[in-house]
Amino acid sequence: MSHNILILPGDGIGPEIIDEAVKVLNALKAEGSLDMELQFAKLGGSAYDAEGSPYPESTQKLAKAADAILLGAVGGPQYDKLDRPLRPERGLLAIRTDLELFANLRPAILYEELANASSLKPEIVANLDLMIVRELTGGIYFGQPRGIEVSEDGERFGYNTLVYKESEIERIGRVAFDIAMKRGKRLCSVDKANVLEATELWREVMERIGKEYPEVELSHLYVDNAAMQLVLKPKQFDVMVTTNMFGDILSDQASMLTGSIGMLPSASMNASKQGLYEPSHGSAPDIAGQSIANPLATILSAAMMLRYSLEQGELADRIEAAVKQVLANGLRTADIYEEGTRKVSTTEMGDAVVAALAR
Ligand code: IPM
Ligand code: MG
Repeated sequence: MSHNILILPGDGIGPEIIDEAVKVLNALKAEGSLDMELQFAKLGGSAYDAEGSPYPESTQKLAKAADAILLGAVGGPQYDKLDRPLRPERGLLAIRTDLELFANLRPAILYEELANASSLKPEIVANLDLMIVRELTGGIYFGQPRGIEVSEDGERFGYNTLVYKESEIERIGRVAFDIAMKRGKRLCSVDKANVLEATELWREVMERIGKEYPEVELSHLYVDNAAMQLVLKPKQFDVMVTTNMFGDILSDQASMLTGSIGMLPSASMNASKQGLYEPSHGSAPDIAGQSIANPLATILSAAMMLRYSLEQGELADRIEAAVKQVLANGLRTADIYEEGTRKVSTTEMGDAVVAALAR
């Protein structure tokens, strides 16, 4: 069966890093191991420039029909003054909602060769391999009512609503438990159940689902403590599951434990395993067009896509091994460069991964 993959290069460094991931996918296709067709569309600022919307209908159509989507990154300072609904980030939120991509997987892995990149002591972070499962289409990001209004006494007030239905908690819980089963069988659910009712329910539902997974050791942390534990003893965690907003914050924090956000992929999936895959880093407009960006997070996102949406775990393993190989060979883009290694460009890094794949 041929896989239908939609490529969304996006803005800033997006197109450059996507080119390298496409190179890797095409190499697998050329050797006959991957049966796929690529389509290309626009999302974010580039879509606004071309069609006046950050998530135009042309993109929406292709996205709905795709088995999986690979995204570069969206955003840039030239779009900051646009009305909110037209900004690049809205394109990202719209495609998440439209495809019901409720399960956001954000790994934080520390590669042996990059242990010095972390701001934490090497012994605290060595061999870190943590997966954050973030709920992505509910919670305070989308809860109604919301808005900015003027009260009777003339003072303005802003408000948002944190709301979770049991079914929403259940489905993200099951994703997290399933992932824990395939990893170290430890799951930590993060909430603020001592203050927020919505997350009191969250904890209760996680407990209930946990009974279906007797092999998984389930624990709970309040989000403030979880933030502290992440920097104190990050290796205590295997899989963490949390709400949309807590996951937004904790996943940024976790990514910095590794010191190299240019290395971290992510996945956003729906119930039918259709997924949007993207690097965890942003569009870095300040370095766009110079071929110095690190394409490895995007290449590793393509590996996640093969693993989680296209049932091609072995090809994913091969890409991940190839990335480890180029790091072991001493190749580094500017963001992870240190003395004694070899600084390479975006395209050189992509070429090196393709070469390592062939071996
Ligand atoms: C992320 C980003 C987005 C989010 C923004 C750009 C809307 O921070 O993917 O983590 O908050 O979800
Ligand atoms: Mg974020």
